[in-house]
Amino acid sequence: MANLHPVPAEFAARARIDKAGYEKLYAESVSDPEGFWGRIGKRLDWIKPYTRVKDVSFDISDLHIRWYEDGVLNVSANCLDRHLATRGEKTAIIWEGDDPDDSRHISYRELHAEVCRAANLLTHLGIGKGDRVAIYLPMIPEAAVAMLACTRIGAVHTIVFGGFSPDSLASRIADSQCKLVITADEGVRGGKRVALKANVDAALERPNTNSVETVLVVRRTGGAVDMQVPRDRWWHALMEGQSEQHDPVPCEAEHPLFILYTSGSTGAPKGVLHTTGGYLVHASYTHECVFDLREDDVYWCTADVGWVTGHSYLVYGPLANGATTVMFEGVPNYPDSSRFWQVVDKHKVTIFYTAPTAIRALMREGEDPVTRTSRASIRLLGSVGEPINPEAWEWYYRVVGESRCPIVDTWWQTETGGILITPLPGATDLKPGSASLPFFGIKPAIVDANGNLLDGATEGNLILTDSWPGQMRTVYGDHQRFIDTYFRTYPGNYFTGDGVRRDEDGYYWITGRVDDVINVSGHRLGTAEVESALVAHVSVAEAAVVGCAHDIKGQGIYAYVTLKVGVEQSEALRKELIAWVRKEIGPIATPDYLQWAPGLPKTRSGKIMRRILRKIAENAPDQLGDTSTLADPSVVRNLVDERMIRG
Ligand code: PRX
Repeated sequence: MANLHPVPAEFAARARIDKAGYEKLYAESVSDPEGFWGRIGKRLDWIKPYTRVKDVSFDISDLHIRWYEDGVLNVSANCLDRHLATRGEKTAIIWEGDDPDDSRHISYRELHAEVCRAANLLTHLGIGKGDRVAIYLPMIPEAAVAMLACTRIGAVHTIVFGGFSPDSLASRIADSQCKLVITADEGVRGGKRVALKANVDAALERPNTNSVETVLVVRRTGGAVDMQVPRDRWWHALMEGQSEQHDPVPCEAEHPLFILYTSGSTGAPKGVLHTTGGYLVHASYTHECVFDLREDDVYWCTADVGWVTGHSYLVYGPLANGATTVMFEGVPNYPDSSRFWQVVDKHKVTIFYTAPTAIRALMREGEDPVTRTSRASIRLLGSVGEPINPEAWEWYYRVVGESRCPIVDTWWQTETGGILITPLPGATDLKPGSASLPFFGIKPAIVDANGNLLDGATEGNLILTDSWPGQMRTVYGDHQRFIDTYFRTYPGNYFTGDGVRRDEDGYYWITGRVDDVINVSGHRLGTAEVESALVAHVSVAEAAVVGCAHDIKGQGIYAYVTLKVGVEQSEALRKELIAWVRKEIGPIATPDYLQWAPGLPKTRSGKIMRRILRKIAENAPDQLGDTSTLADPSVVRNLVDERMIRG
């Protein structure tokens, strides 16, 4: 029986939503979604109000998802202009640099002026409504300015995480056919510099990147860069002459807002497309309810803007709500492992939202780096990105939150746009390790492998039987892939790719991915991506990659490699292949283990049996299960023996 943490009295008394409120609103939201979301949609400023709320079919022969379809709005006007009258001098962004002596407060008025100038600049560079813009920036205020400037003119941004390699950047630019790339000379993280502009230069040498006409370069470090005229232009030089006035461009509710690439079971990362109206309603409403937002909160989400969490809960949700949001350039352990809590004390952070992998890494350093800081300002903690193990949950609760602060364990995905299963801090009793109950309008269900609905306390695959406003609308440029990936497995429903257990109280416990996606430190990677990077090396004949348990990262990457005939196995080659994957995709894809595989376990039809490879990686040879369908069972014996030698 899990340790139950009831809603603290302070939250119950002051919360936006209490237990009775949750039950009432949830019931309404699922019985009358049109009425419910019709009302909630009014939280935004619409240039032209919507008259239609929901037009959705999950039927694969007629799949469509439309929310607030005839409404017209502008995202940046909702995040900035409408706050000027009442919150103009309020801090919108507190920027905390990698260097602890470096920080800045940017008011809503200042941010508005910067975004207007940037919108004028983009227009001047020939970027218009619907054009794609790649953003490859470190965690500096210009990242938020660039995002909002795109939304102001109706351009579609695609942010590429600064840790991705030139190849990964190139494939995203090629797929989305961007006209502009916004980058920086270099990024700084943990005292180390990252050569972003040089990576852009390398990316633009790759095929199908000719769509890029301009590269705008923000000066972050002043490090030397190679400016190719006329393609490359300095951000600061061009921003200088721009006006601080700009009329936001009206965008239809279903106008594309951004594309964000994410990994799936097969093939190259998919361009998840989110649109304007529904996304912003969902991001802002969940941000307000889940974090029980108050006007004087200082809210800090530690995610990078390169991930969906950075989109929805660092920039769009908080700014649409007129909140103060902290943007942190650095890492949790620089200059030392008290850094998060030093930043909390410095800026009097009240709400802190991070990933389990960071908590586990800090937990390893002991309690002292935490307890030597005050953290008295914190009132609410959050977790996102992967299942949080109960030990890490309890440590986060007891040590960081001093057993006073509820933890909201928020389950969602790049595809969902915002939080779907989560506690509400004033309404939900907490069970460590459980994302708990569905948010308003969310209808989770559990099915077995054959699609049979399972009732009551049970375990199986997580599906969602109805839409919500923040749902992705398509895979950019490949609608068929959207249908096939999410709606074909359990027709009529959205399949999440996650396994889940539901307990006797109706609480959901996400058990992890059930497909060939691995979750490394809260970052999604397809095993197929790592495999294709490996086989691109001249020495490799074949590769198979699986996830394995990892104390800090949650999951690590375990690669099996078959070398080409005549190539010798060696430690040097093992290291070279690990470095190769790191260079091909980026540091997050670095394999943790690489085992030589003279052969891979395959069925007679040639399909690699990953179930077996996962068990070998786990060092559980007694749990291999049925191997009788293998073409050559001796392959398994060899792999197990090698694994045993390594220990
Ligand atoms: O497996 C689930 C896991 O992360 C996946 C989504 O990854 P991504 O699209 O990169 O988005 C991460 C940030 C929302 C999910 O399919 N996941 C995310 N949050 C949780 C989680 N697993 C368990 N508990 C969570 N709170």
